[in-house]
Amino acid sequence: MDYKQKVTAALTAALDGQLTADEISNKIERPKTSDKGDLAFPTFTLAKVLHQAPQQIAKDVAAKLDTTGFEKVEVVGPYLNFFFDKNAFSEETLKTVLTEGADYGKNEEGAGGNVPIDMSSPNIAKPMSMGHLRSTVIGNSIAEILTKNGYHPIKDNHLGDWGTQFGKLITAYKLWGNEADVKRDPINKLVEYYVRFHKEDVEHPELDDEAREWFRKLEAGDPEANKLWAWFREASLQEFSQVYDELGVSFDTFNGEAFYNDKLEEVVQILKDKHLLVESQGAQVVDLSKYDLNPALILKSDGASLYITRDIATALYRDRTYAPAKNLYVVGSEQAYYFKQLKAVLTEIGLPSASKLQYVPFGLITVDGKKLSTRSGRIILLAKVLEESVKLAGEEINEKNPDLPNKEEVAHQVGVGAIVFGDLKNERTNAIDFVLADQLKFEGETGPYVQYAHARAESILRKAASVDVKAGGNEISDPEAWDTIKTLADFPATVKMACAELEPSVIAKFAIRLSKTFNKYYAHSKILAEDAELPARLALVKAVSTVLKESLRLLGVQAPDEM
Ligand code: ARG
Repeated sequence: MDYKQKVTAALTAALDGQLTADEISNKIERPKTSDKGDLAFPTFTLAKVLHQAPQQIAKDVAAKLDTTGFEKVEVVGPYLNFFFDKNAFSEETLKTVLTEGADYGKNEEGAGGNVPIDMSSPNIAKPMSMGHLRSTVIGNSIAEILTKNGYHPIKDNHLGDWGTQFGKLITAYKLWGNEADVKRDPINKLVEYYVRFHKEDVEHPELDDEAREWFRKLEAGDPEANKLWAWFREASLQEFSQVYDELGVSFDTFNGEAFYNDKLEEVVQILKDKHLLVESQGAQVVDLSKYDLNPALILKSDGASLYITRDIATALYRDRTYAPAKNLYVVGSEQAYYFKQLKAVLTEIGLPSASKLQYVPFGLITVDGKKLSTRSGRIILLAKVLEESVKLAGEEINEKNPDLPNKEEVAHQVGVGAIVFGDLKNERTNAIDFVLADQLKFEGETGPYVQYAHARAESILRKAASVDVKAGGNEISDPEAWDTIKTLADFPATVKMACAELEPSVIAKFAIRLSKTFNKYYAHSKILAEDAELPARLALVKAVSTVLKESLRLLGVQAPDEM
């Protein structure tokens, strides 16, 4: 039962068309403290419409209001404060959570529509950056949230495995490379060659010519070039997979840029047929001045394709393969301008799904104040950050719970969870500086804090294993329980909002709120006291555990039963 709807319905009837249901619903507030009711309606907007004092209006409306299903409705100044029937509300909420279990909060709004998610997409022969980590965990969580809302996401890793940089890399490898070195430590070695290339080409610009020639050969299918490329790609993917395994993220497709290599001719043909290609200084561009954007460079003067050429082919492919309901690109905000250009070109082409293209940007991430950059060679390896986090989590657990049997597994769940949660609790467009030690704290708004609340709930349930958990029959008299129950009831709306905004932080913030209200309840109440209320209290604990676990799952974070 959605109480906001109930309040809206009662007010709509009482107001007799003076405001629409939507207008009313948008004005309904959640009071900060329960003594001001569970939901409140301010009458200021009505005062403007009716030219009357809001206090008077509040009184008049209250007199006409049908209050069935509410404990009471109080008029306080310009406000109407609605108090829910606690018994009925608790019973119904808990019953719903317990019967639906992990499905609680699920809806079918997506109607099975396909949603390709372009996510993670690191570049071959370079370390995966913290930015790629953000794309991975944000994309993964958005996929879970979409599924919960009835969509069918397709997680596509658009690997940066093509482009002129491979000409540079092959040139560098042929000059300074060593097979055994690359086999031992692929990405580090390849980066070393790449960095050296950029140092030396300052004084030896002929290196650039050579690199261009190698890329031309690569695009033309030259066997030597392609063999080296395939090897660099495979070795890099193996290193990336370690990070994906750590994070527990999988992909449906790895259609990187190279996948579209044989689909570029068609792109050029389409652009030509639509008279969109114009020559500019020997290169082929699409003019975007009517969008107030710089022209998109499609083919260089030597005929080489570009990032955007491959992205147009990608969009075409996704359009045909999936007929997307939404088409998402989870890519750092530094590419905002680029995605405007891409969308503009696709619109010019008249691609059916062009309007569905949604760029899902996120802010820059620094770790302990340090920025990441490949070219300068100053790299914080993502794998190292994860490793460090697991190590610190292990130390914390050793101290808090030395007898825990599966310490290593839990350290892993907590260490990785801290990083994922620490990222996702921020609105994605915010820049974040990640201070690892802060995210690992068991107090404050952290992953371990939420995991700990869940483990605490599970521990209570273990102690009371013999009691029959039952949602109804008994009123839960603790006032502290009430906030927890109301928070549980907000979960379905939260799931919808996270989907509408493509914003995992909505779920993370909800998980923090539920943990906080539950911890307060836990601190103030004797949950395990053996009296008539016990089964109902345990039902509440069970519901909290279920919803916390499900919230964490939507974020891609595990929920150990003990920690
Ligand atoms: N590989 C790119 C990078 O690391 C991100 C690719 C984003 N996806 C896309 N379809 N352009 O910057």
